[in-house]
Amino acid sequence: MTAVAFQRCISATCGQNFAIDEVHIACPDCGSLLDVQYDWDAAHPPAALKEIGKGNDQLGGPLAQSGVWRFHRLLPFAPPSQMVTIGEGQTLLQHAVQVARYVGLDSGELHLQYEGMNPSGSFKDNGMAAAFSHAAMIGATRAACASTGNTSASLAAFSAVTGLMQAVIFIGSGKISYGKLSQALDYGALTVQIAGDFDDAMRRVREVTSQLGIYLVNSVNPFRLEGQKTIMFRVLEALEWQVPDWIVVPGGNLGNSSSFGKAFAELYQLGLIDRVPRLAVINATGANTLYELFENRGLRWNGGNPAMEIVENYYRELDESNSHAQTIASAIEINRPVNLSKCLRSLEICDGVVREVTDQEILDAKSQVGAGGLGCEPASAASVAGAKRLRNEGMIAAGDRVVCVLTGHLLKDPAATVAYHTTDQDMFDRILGSRGVRRASFANRAVAVPNDLDEIIKAIQLYS
Ligand code: F0G
Repeated sequence: MTAVAFQRCISATCGQNFAIDEVHIACPDCGSLLDVQYDWDAAHPPAALKEIGKGNDQLGGPLAQSGVWRFHRLLPFAPPSQMVTIGEGQTLLQHAVQVARYVGLDSGELHLQYEGMNPSGSFKDNGMAAAFSHAAMIGATRAACASTGNTSASLAAFSAVTGLMQAVIFIGSGKISYGKLSQALDYGALTVQIAGDFDDAMRRVREVTSQLGIYLVNSVNPFRLEGQKTIMFRVLEALEWQVPDWIVVPGGNLGNSSSFGKAFAELYQLGLIDRVPRLAVINATGANTLYELFENRGLRWNGGNPAMEIVENYYRELDESNSHAQTIASAIEINRPVNLSKCLRSLEICDGVVREVTDQEILDAKSQVGAGGLGCEPASAASVAGAKRLRNEGMIAAGDRVVCVLTGHLLKDPAATVAYHTTDQDMFDRILGSRGVRRASFANRAVAVPNDLDEIIKAIQLYS
């Protein structure tokens, strides 16, 4: 293990350090989240971002191709012999002309970062490569997570492909889409369906992993967030190392937003960028804890001392009114985001804003992304819907360069997509109408024809 990396409690009043080979899901002294930190003088980071790939040939084939490990000099906690890869992070930043028009941006200014291209179909593989490497470094043989479906798919995939770990996943019963559930089942994960939602599953997995000594890979694991920094490194790389004006990302458990802020803070500290982009975190209206706390109740990072009583009061109100998260974007159907405090830190670093968008806005934005040929799942489209809102408000200017992170693949949740485009009113009402979706303004409806050659030809001539 390298000596340059260590873990540190993020609380300003605690700030305890821990060795890299210790396993904690929270600071044992004060209960706050932990960061992975580096002694950069000893770590020898690159002198300029364009030199980041220097020496990567020595990593060998698959590691040198990994979209995570080819940036290993900016997350130097694992020696090459212990880096685990299944081909993660080979993703695309698409210059999205049509979606730019929809959002209201000048042509050329909107870019979509397609993390659905990862081996398990979501951005989680970036973080899982890092967490899995740490799990392997400390000799774990079982790993667990609570999930709205993508973390579990990623954990199941890494476990099955590498054979290093038995995967144990906790999901809220009926709360994850079939695309994601089918991955966990097919890849052989021990799948525990809890009678409850994600927030219940998260609480239970913490208890179970601590009792049974199972390695936890949810994003409370600071190594996960190290891997997710590379999403931003690849964005910068695709923009020829120019910093965009805005990064827009959906907010669920707030791992990505936490990780992105850390990435930019480190790049800035190392003199590798001369400014940080602004960050917009987008909640669904039915799962809007961050929006409520940050935009309405004034919760801030406050130099590492956020006013946690604001959070406790809000959670008490949720309990008293028996409120549960509700959105078609099931990936972000979360009311108690575990990385809340780290996300507040990112919002401070990146002069960030938080917005909420309705399921209607999410599905309309999703159809626009899909029309560009590389689709996404509902939660991902919250970023595009959020960018459109911020553009309408004038917060984002028409000439700003904006990157929306598309976190998961279209095929993760085909039910939502088919219901949006369907001509079957019952299906529409059952899946979408029940969530307040009234219209499918951009539906591409299938054309029903009799099994008759003339009728088929007539229909094609009519519609093409
Ligand atoms: N988008 C997708 C597709 C997700 O799966 C998730 C989170 C998010 C956005 C939110 O990201 O937590 O970093 O704010 N999914 C987790 C899971 C919770 O269990 O798969 P975040």
